[in-house]
Amino acid sequence: MLFDLAPKTSRKDLYDFSEELESLYRSYGSARLVTVVGPRRAGNTSLILTFLSEYNIPESGLL
Ligand SMILES: Nc1ncnc2c1ncn2[C@@H]1O[C@H](COP(=O)(O)OP(=O)(O)OP(=O)(O)O)[C@@H](O)[C@H]1O
Ligand SMILES: [Mg+2]
Repeated sequence: MLFDLAPKTSRKDLYDFSEELESLYRSYGSARLVTVVGPRRAGNTSLILTFLSEYNIPESGLL
């Protein structure tokens, strides 16, 4: 699973991003707009997908 080419979607598979997950959750609760910015293949999509699934946020919650 660690070497899967697809983005990760759960905390157990996402390595070393717990601070970023918590930071994203705080920003989601307080900011009008949140962006995730990083180099290509750094895990940007994995961070967002794991955040949505671990915090049970429906896609409609993003609007
Ligand atoms: N923290 C991590 N733990 C485990 N796997 C990771 C992590 N970060 C990235 N990966 C793996 O690296 C690859 C790239 O991750 P991902 O697609 O999430 O990155 P991205 O920044 O959105 O990439 P892209 O530039 O292609 O959009 C995938 O195989 C993903 O599973
Ligand atoms: Mg991506």
